[in-house]
Amino acid sequence: MDKIDKALRLSAGNSHNKQQENWRANILTRSQLMENLLSEVKRLAQGDASLFIHGESGTGKELIAQAIHKASPRHNGPFIAVNCSAIPEDLLESELFGHRKGAFSGAFEHRQGLFQAADSGTLFLDEIGDMSSAFQVKLLRALQERQIRPVGSNTSIPVDVRIVSASHHDLEKKANDGGFRMDLYYRLSVAKLTLPKLSERREDISLLANYFITHSDSTYSYVAKGFSNQAMEILLSYDWPGNVRQLQNVVEHVSALATTPIVPANLVERVLQEKNSTMQGLKEAKSQFEKEYLIKLLRSVDGNVSQAARLAKGNRTEFYKLLDRHQLKPTTFK
Ligand SMILES: Nc1ncnc2c1ncn2[C@@H]1O[C@H](COP(=O)(O)OP(=O)(O)OP(=O)(O)O)[C@@H](O)[C@H]1O
Ligand SMILES: [Mg+2]
Repeated sequence: MDKIDKALRLSAGNSHNKQQENWRANILTRSQLMENLLSEVKRLAQGDASLFIHGESGTGKELIAQAIHKASPRHNGPFIAVNCSAIPEDLLESELFGHRKGAFSGAFEHRQGLFQAADSGTLFLDEIGDMSSAFQVKLLRALQERQIRPVGSNTSIPVDVRIVSASHHDLEKKANDGGFRMDLYYRLSVAKLTLPKLSERREDISLLANYFITHSDSTYSYVAKGFSNQAMEILLSYDWPGNVRQLQNVVEHVSALATTPIVPANLVERVLQEKNSTMQGLKEAKSQFEKEYLIKLLRSVDGNVSQAARLAKGNRTEFYKLLDRHQLKPTTFK
């Protein structure tokens, strides 16, 4: 049902038929730290233990979660990602465990939860650090018993899922400080993988920057093909608090503004400065336009996502991602 589909991102089953050797194909790196991490990923993926990924925002946690799935014996099963912090607390239980018809007002039909949708595959619980303690208890029980109980049901259903979770919080510290259940942390983190910051693997900066400049999804310009030496120097010496995601944004912005195949230093400088100031760049302008368009569109169809997606000529999954990116909730327009 639409209502419940909202704040979640579902990326199911794109790993079917893919050769398992491709498990790390999307991860570009020439850093020894990352290579060490990837060999751990490869080794841990073979088992079925719950894995916890810790890393600052934009370091590639979701990419690693997908890689674990692809390298695992479950790679032919579904990979389902849930952004736990994007789902309102009172919906999280029915999102994950499902509900029976009539379990609460608005539950017009039975609905399967994401645990069941991920059966025989991997469930990626992203941004897990901010759950209420009441919900932590429910999740712990599900993980211990390997069974879930849909909201409003009194029978439990066995589920066969591998749990991968992630947070930018140091959950162990949070658990030590009493902000997260220690027993749940141990369940989730049979092994912990820590993603290095981009500034700890500077050798990846040029690799990624050169990749992003030639694979930019900017609709404004495909002129730029590379960076001048000086431009690259600036990228290499920058601190990248937003890690790979920030580098990707900066390169896309540069690419949108570039008028020459080799990007000069002053353009990179300008974009990095703009990112730190209130000056609106082309990327932000595009994003703002996109958001306003989505708001108008959703208003015109009273928040009906299927209809809005059709009018925007996109598919529902993509459309949800777009709404997610702009933090728009279809129910606001009903
Ligand atoms: N090693 C890499 N090679 C290629 N692309 C990467 C790499 N690491 C990250 N990216 C890209 O950077 C972006 C951020 O990665 P991802 O979403 O996996 O990070 P995250 O840690 O989950 O970030 P967030 O905290 O913002 O959710 C994505 O577009 C991803 O494809
Ligand atoms: Mg993420």
